[in-house]
Amino acid sequence: MRFLLLPFLVFLSYLSAQAADAAVSVEATADVTTETLSSTLKLYLKSRDGTKIYAEATGNKNGPHVIFAHGLACTNAAFDPLFNDRSMTSSLYMVRYDTRGHGLSGKPLSPDFYTSDRYADDVKAVIAGFKLKKPFFVGWSLGGAIGADIAANFPTPLPFSGLIWLAGLPYIGDILPKVATPKVLSFLPGLEETNNATSALQTRIDFVETLSSATATVPYDIKLAWVGSAVYLPPAAASLALGRSQDPSKLLAQGKAGWPLLIIHGTKDLQIDGNAVISNMAPLFKNVETHMIQGAGHIPFFDDESSVAKYILAWTKRIARTRPY
Ligand SMILES: *[C@@H]1O[C@H](CO)[C@@H](O)[C@H](O)[C@H]1NC(C)=O
Repeated sequence: MRFLLLPFLVFLSYLSAQAADAAVSVEATADVTTETLSSTLKLYLKSRDGTKIYAEATGNKNGPHVIFAHGLACTNAAFDPLFNDRSMTSSLYMVRYDTRGHGLSGKPLSPDFYTSDRYADDVKAVIAGFKLKKPFFVGWSLGGAIGADIAANFPTPLPFSGLIWLAGLPYIGDILPKVATPKVLSFLPGLEETNNATSALQTRIDFVETLSSATATVPYDIKLAWVGSAVYLPPAAASLALGRSQDPSKLLAQGKAGWPLLIIHGTKDLQIDGNAVISNMAPLFKNVETHMIQGAGHIPFFDDESSVAKYILAWTKRIARTRPY
């Protein structure tokens, strides 16, 4: 590359100073791109029903494999703090994807496309696309409910090392009113609103303001990205993603059979009550570890990234070593 660049730069020296500046910036951009491409693999996968699933992977393929699923009105990009943490990427092979209806993934607008088995099919596409072996599955917020889709639709013993709920909703059903705050429930009509743009857009901003426990200190560019993520979710798709039904019985059966569960929650979560998640769910799992992170909100891996990383790393390392399931 240098050999080709040299005569090119000699030729450029005859041109104006402005043109030479441009050549320097081209070279710098090329270096950055090469580094990014070698560390992150980005794929558009196809789920069994044809829905497009956007996913990306980074990290150490020799470490435990871990899939991350984001919550309602967010995208895989919310996980940037964890995916930019070298302690995580040097130990784990980390894959994140946009769930159907969200981000860069397909947005079918019929209820048939939001059944439990189709959510499991998306996870199957991610596993096949990145050739994952017995991955851990991390579900943040509404993404936590995908654990129930996995348990209901994969053969047992489940080909997953364990489940992590990061400020997670255990499943969609009777648990929702026990763990969801009135605040987050008050946003649902606005997120689903299809006839009033004023209300639909304002709700996306209000929703984002309840992610961090220190929302006043969240940088403006980050908030703009979070609101932008929420706008990628069409209101009609929000209704379908929230209105779908799940059968948690197989999740509970696997919990009883020892499928490992890690619950990580913030004490200042404005959307889901971590103590309620732990008191309702932990007794039903034979192999469960729980952590309440002091002061963290609904996006604990933004509010206190180092604590979340520390708990995920220690737990996945222990489970991968002891193989309790
Ligand atoms: C639309 O929503 C806004 C904000 O919630 C509300 O003030 C307004 O009355 C609504 N408009 C209609 C036509 O319902």
